[in-house]
Amino acid sequence: MSILKNINNDLKERLKGIGYDVENINLLPSNRKDLGDFQINEAMQLAKKYGKNPREIASDIVEELNKDEKFTNINIAGPGFINISINNDYLVNELNHIEKDIDYNIDKREEKKIVIDFGGANVAKALHVGHLRSANLGEGLKRLARRIGYKVWGDAHLGDYGRPLGLVELEIKKMYPELPFFDENYQGNYEEVELPITNADLEKIYPLASAKSKEDEEYLEEARIITSKIQNKEKGYYDLWKRIIEISKKDIKEVYDSLNVYYDLWLGESDSVEYYNELYKIFDDKGLLKDSEGAKIVELEEETDKAPMPPILFVKSNGSLSYQTTDLATILQRKHEENPDEIWYCVDARQSLHFDQVFRAARYANLVDENVKLEFVGFGTMNGKDGKPFKTRDGGVMPLKELINLVEEETYKRIVIDTKDEAEKQEIAHKVAIACLKYSDSLPFRGTDYIFEIDKFADMEGKTGAYILYSTIRMKSLLKKAKEQGIEYNKMHSIYSDVEKEVALTLLNLPTVIDKTIENKSLNEVAEYIFKLTSIYNKFYSDNKVLIEEDSNKKTSWLVLTDIVYKTNLLLLDILGIEVPEKM
Ligand code: ARG
Repeated sequence: MSILKNINNDLKERLKGIGYDVENINLLPSNRKDLGDFQINEAMQLAKKYGKNPREIASDIVEELNKDEKFTNINIAGPGFINISINNDYLVNELNHIEKDIDYNIDKREEKKIVIDFGGANVAKALHVGHLRSANLGEGLKRLARRIGYKVWGDAHLGDYGRPLGLVELEIKKMYPELPFFDENYQGNYEEVELPITNADLEKIYPLASAKSKEDEEYLEEARIITSKIQNKEKGYYDLWKRIIEISKKDIKEVYDSLNVYYDLWLGESDSVEYYNELYKIFDDKGLLKDSEGAKIVELEEETDKAPMPPILFVKSNGSLSYQTTDLATILQRKHEENPDEIWYCVDARQSLHFDQVFRAARYANLVDENVKLEFVGFGTMNGKDGKPFKTRDGGVMPLKELINLVEEETYKRIVIDTKDEAEKQEIAHKVAIACLKYSDSLPFRGTDYIFEIDKFADMEGKTGAYILYSTIRMKSLLKKAKEQGIEYNKMHSIYSDVEKEVALTLLNLPTVIDKTIENKSLNEVAEYIFKLTSIYNKFYSDNKVLIEEDSNKKTSWLVLTDIVYKTNLLLLDILGIEVPEKM
């Protein structure tokens, strides 16, 4: 239950009671704290509606508000702005509720089923920097959506269909022609065949094969043939494909694990093919398929289009399916398997046209009910200082693993823990590195590009994951020390200073932050908020010596406040998929 929202709803009813029908009334955090904690600006709007002087309306409102004990310091400024503060006793009471149950400060929603398609990993290719944002954003949205009561499936939707796999197999064939996968007469069990290829090999094989195919037409043709053999589940080729996926998936999973990114569904593009016949029939019955040079296409142009809308290549002349078609088949698959109310696609903003095509075609074919929301959640890129996607020192594509190592080296140098245990130090450096990387990735609005600056991101001061972790650990240790000294704290008695009040008011703002996050599907508000809350709390912390405070009511109130901020930080860090080490 959100405290501010409740107040707002209550106010709306009360204004109705005095004859002012207002759509919404909002207590807006004031930027002139000397005048009041909040502002109410609706008198202006009502003045227009009722043809009255706004000051007159404001004074009617103030008269009504004065009857309510939770408000104090109500006054009118300028033409009709109302300044208003919340009474400390009321705040304290609400904070005591939050202390008992942190979810008291979170609005639960009506049950809704959501599939989040995120990560974007492709089989037999290394995850690279470009994959960080999708994984981070999707995981964060998944965790938040669950927290507010939605039922959510995270789906990796692996890129495991199409030419890259044919290229990889062709190159393997050239390297190891004697492998039984390429022997038509082989009678044994393919699963038992020893494969001389590791994931590291796969990561080298694909770029090599891809480069060759660009120069050598014959090589490309051979790869095409192998690709269709795989897609037609031809003995040997198909079995090798399964083995490649196994190796690759294991590695992809390891990288995601290290980022605290987890999936409920490890399906791939290829899994959707099972639904292709049904998909074809739906499109065909609706007359949506047009012949085009042996292929079938779906035309999507509409008169009102402001930008070109190319048709979908539904099925190619050789029978293989395009990226759009596997995405359409996946929608059908999800309808049958999870039957979601919404599907969110956390994918690079450069794929927006692809999703426009897919969604439009899905609507034409009524693939899902019209109430089902298909949403493209596009994101910008992580760039280097040159404004281009962040690269390795020699100018190559930066693998995600290498990026994580880079940040780990940096945080290792910066953490100050006192330990001789090397493994422990490494483990902490890892957790701090993940925090820095994910926090910095969450800070900019998802749609904007940002520049990777390791010095800035791994700094222990400033708006960084390290700063938040350090501060959170310090809260925890204060609470632990209090317990060790036998201090019981479970009730807040009062608010004793302005900075405490600021902490309290910031806490009340959490539900708004969550609303915006769900609406914009971007983690920036959460990242900003956690920094704000932490910084204000730290100001309080440096102003006061909690444990040696003699007034015991004050001391327990301060500990409760600390506890709430600590728990709120844990909750939000968990949403960002950031683990808090014991110490750092
Ligand atoms: N694997 C794709 C790529 O690397 C991204 C997949 C995004 N999800 C989707 N349903 N198309 O571009």
